[in-house]
Amino acid sequence: MKAAVLRAFNTPLEIEELEIDDPGPGEVLLKTAATGICHSDLHVIEGSLPMPPPVVLGHEPAGVVEAVGEGVTDFAPGDHVIGCITNWCGVCKFCTGGRPYLCPGQFDGRPPEMKSRISTKGGDPIFQFANLSSFAEQMLCPERSLVKIRPDMPLDRASLIGCGVTTGLGAALNTVNIPAGASVVIIGCGGVGLSALQGARIRGAGKIIAVDAQPWKFDLARKLGANECVDASDGDPVAAVHEITGGGADFVFECIGLGVTVQQAIAMAGRGGTAVLVGVVPMGEMVPIPASDLTLQEKNVTGSYMGSNAFRFDMPNYIDFYLDGRLFLDEMISARINLEDINDAFEQMKKGQVARQVITFD
Ligand SMILES: NC(=O)c1ccc[n+]([C@@H]2O[C@H](COP(=O)([O-])OP(=O)(O)OC[C@H]3O[C@@H](n4cnc5c(N)ncnc54)[C@H](O)[C@@H]3O)[C@@H](O)[C@H]2O)c1
Ligand SMILES: [Zn+2]
Ligand SMILES: [Zn+2]
Repeated sequence: MKAAVLRAFNTPLEIEELEIDDPGPGEVLLKTAATGICHSDLHVIEGSLPMPPPVVLGHEPAGVVEAVGEGVTDFAPGDHVIGCITNWCGVCKFCTGGRPYLCPGQFDGRPPEMKSRISTKGGDPIFQFANLSSFAEQMLCPERSLVKIRPDMPLDRASLIGCGVTTGLGAALNTVNIPAGASVVIIGCGGVGLSALQGARIRGAGKIIAVDAQPWKFDLARKLGANECVDASDGDPVAAVHEITGGGADFVFECIGLGVTVQQAIAMAGRGGTAVLVGVVPMGEMVPIPASDLTLQEKNVTGSYMGSNAFRFDMPNYIDFYLDGRLFLDEMISARINLEDINDAFEQMKKGQVARQVITFD
């Protein structure tokens, strides 16, 4: 099968012919139908999320089941599925306590004594990213990384739900409790931020303020539910948000992953407000915050990982939202591309020129 391989940090991905193993116990072999490209893939390429090359990235997929391994009862060939990085064990304190997305074993792949799921034609192992590796024509995944979806859902749009939509929408629907009428700021209008924005709209938020340094994104942000937009490249976005909200917002979602915008998020939150950190700041980077604001203004700061999901429950709901017309996905796809164009896609992402790009496979 053809796949895009990261051979060294900060180098272009290489399109290679690789081997994929047969499904073992509890595993499912998929034909990849589509995969979104998320900024977290770029973080790995740039070395700010730890994952050693050689690795096949990609973690926002939808596909069709080709074969199942021993003991798999939830899936059968022909099923349409979405893959998610938050593989769950079902028995740990997080899974049984209602927060399966925190399952500590989620990145454990096959046991080391087993053959690598992906390897070169010569038999050298290639790392699999988050049990998925969707920048490839086929995927071999644990069944607990997958959810079956309705067959009338178009698979290119379904793929967005695999990471960006679940992360952003879930941050607004699951991580915090946004009361109707609350003011909400979204910093960063990529796939993740635009999904958080839609979550705020679905929740019945009052003012929804989109902040980005690329003002062309504001037409799209307005279509998806923003009623105010702030150009971060022109003046102080914190002052602009305080002006619009009359003293700071109730909820601020940081959806970029920069120290400076984390600080802006906390500063944009008003008295009693909550800053939700969704963007991934490079590991090890420290961000100073004004601790006395947290105490004296009772501001909250919370992280949000993968939309605090229970994805086998959430994703079919999000598909219903889309098919009912409450969640807009068509508008979020800036381009459908071939696997061979993946390096250009990352260049576009670096420049902030896209909302979401989706690789489709024939
Ligand atoms: N918490 C999680 O579980 C989780 C899951 C998936 C992705 N993420 C992270 O979410 C972040 C966003 O991902 P994405 O795929 O939407 O990224 P993206 O690159 O598509 O979008 C980022 C947006 O931020 C804007 N931007 C950049 N710098 C800015 C600045 N200084 N001020 C204002 N706007 C600015 C860009 O124009 C772009 O619209 C990444 O850090 C990604 O790793 C987190
Ligand atoms: Zn992602
Ligand atoms: Zn668990």
